[in-house]
Amino acid sequence: MKNEIPNYYFPGDAGSFDFQLPTKIIFGEGTVGRLGSEIKQLRGSRALIITSSGMPGRQSTKDIISDLDRAGITTNIYSSAPPEPSVDDVDKSFKFANKIKPDILIGLGGGSAMDVAKKVAVEIKVPKIMIATTAGSGSEVTHNSVLKVDGRKQSFTNIKLAADVAIVDPDLLITMSATGMVSSAMDAMAHAVESYGSRKGNAITRALALKAYVLTKNNISPALSGDAEGRRNIAMGSLMAGMALTGTGTTLGHALAYPLSDRGISHGLSLAIILPYLLELNRFDAGYADELKSFRQGYCVIPEITWNIMEMAREVDADDRHLSNNAREVTLQQIAEVYSAIRDESHNTGLGSR
Ligand SMILES: [Fe+2]
Repeated sequence: MKNEIPNYYFPGDAGSFDFQLPTKIIFGEGTVGRLGSEIKQLRGSRALIITSSGMPGRQSTKDIISDLDRAGITTNIYSSAPPEPSVDDVDKSFKFANKIKPDILIGLGGGSAMDVAKKVAVEIKVPKIMIATTAGSGSEVTHNSVLKVDGRKQSFTNIKLAADVAIVDPDLLITMSATGMVSSAMDAMAHAVESYGSRKGNAITRALALKAYVLTKNNISPALSGDAEGRRNIAMGSLMAGMALTGTGTTLGHALAYPLSDRGISHGLSLAIILPYLLELNRFDAGYADELKSFRQGYCVIPEITWNIMEMAREVDADDRHLSNNAREVTLQQIAEVYSAIRDESHNTGLGSR
């Protein structure tokens, strides 16, 4: 595996910076068992868990609920947080929460469930604990919620969206599908690449981002074959990439991924599709791009969408918020070439998810 990771130096690196990470992080196998005591430390007794529809049936969720029951904590579950949630989905969760009147909110899931939970917790003014069940979004530590507004992804950023406690228990990844694990790990790798090269970066964010990239890259295969250390390392990589994002936000990779998500492709899969092209455009470990492309083709199918290449490229080109902080400038032509290459890939591959 090639490691051609460059050193970026920007004028801002020499100056002063703020780095604020208010979240208490609890990491390790079995740590989800500490949820009850963490709720009590935050003086909670009526918990509302916001999660996605597949979660209540999982044994790990049943274990969480019986743990809380034993700890004397009343628990309700709202399991209608959809993938790629919108502000309307937040509104529905908010209405449910208003009926239950919890004194603590738990976000359980990937980025979508946690982003809804974080936003609702701020609206009803209660503490929040995020439990990550994928290794990818970093939402358990970030200060933002990504929600669709009128069908388009928007990132709401506010330090109030930071969780009080983040629990990252690598054992929760055991039940993930291979496709889910690959696409979410590639979302985390994109976070690392984008944060590392961000013009808003500093010594701390770059150290976190670089370590996150190496951990995720080197451990995705062991994690897929069921290796506990590999699983632990991708969970840590995702967490560190999320921590790095709190100082920088995302840049080019997410700008390129949003038009895909806006056309129905999930966030993780969008980033898995984009990541090899991001490595090439940002000249970050670019020698790995081709190998990564064929690796991800083994797990992720690029869905058929209507490829309005120039329309999509123009949407990215107008996304100044992401592009202005990217390591390198990209032209409309380069962006269009990425989508053309992806369209060609989508026709040449598609062996099916596994
Ligand atoms: Fe992401």
